[in-house]
Amino acid sequence: MQYNVPLAIAKLAEFREQDTGKHLERIRAYCWTLSVEMARNPRYAQVIDSNFLDAIYAASPLHDVGKVGIPDDVLLKPGALNATEWEIMRTHSRIGAEILTLAGGGAMTRSWLEMGRVIAHQHHERWDGTGYPSRLKGEEIDLAARIVALADAYDAITSKRCYKAAMSHEEACSRLISSSGTHFDPEVVAAFQRVAGAFQETMQHTREEQPAPPPLEVRSATGLLRRINSMLPTIVAPEQAAPR
Ligand SMILES: [Fe+2]
Ligand SMILES: [Fe+2]
Repeated sequence: MQYNVPLAIAKLAEFREQDTGKHLERIRAYCWTLSVEMARNPRYAQVIDSNFLDAIYAASPLHDVGKVGIPDDVLLKPGALNATEWEIMRTHSRIGAEILTLAGGGAMTRSWLEMGRVIAHQHHERWDGTGYPSRLKGEEIDLAARIVALADAYDAITSKRCYKAAMSHEEACSRLISSSGTHFDPEVVAAFQRVAGAFQETMQHTREEQPAPPPLEVRSATGLLRRINSMLPTIVAPEQAAPR
């Protein structure tokens, strides 16, 4: 399997977002770790075989490939999105599914490409049926998409983005656990709790270097205040920490 082919396609789509760093590499590592853990449960042992593991490692970086169709003023907006902008942002799941359907030429089997199409389409669905684009509920949502949803959320919470500061591993754990059964599949959250240490290790291992802040400008009081303000971590509302 040429894992770098889907990764490179995903990188192309992500190219305009400059602060995502090693997001895609982390996502596939998180998805792999979660899937291996879930396969230990007899309920999933039949579904999560070596083909599934191969496919999710290749396909998970493609979850946001549809962002290639989102205009710059929405994709790169540093602040909160308004209702119209959210509507535009949400179209990335359908666009992604369409791109990958095209790539499969209409004759897709359960390959990484087919799994990629399903993940792109369903990774913002929620267990309680309040997600998008189709408001799928519970096991109507493909297992691979349920796994990617949690991995993507963990990474969004613990990473710095143009619209939010990075939060700690502990904060991510408490947010994910408290969303078990609402946003996330409870079995995926339970598997996450058993492998949270491995997530933290991957996260710390690939953490982007934070550039040192420029020296404080002390020529005027307002200049100094502005610099201090820019160094304070952004206070993030819960919905702002969620992946877009
Ligand atoms: Fe997304
Ligand atoms: Fe993502």
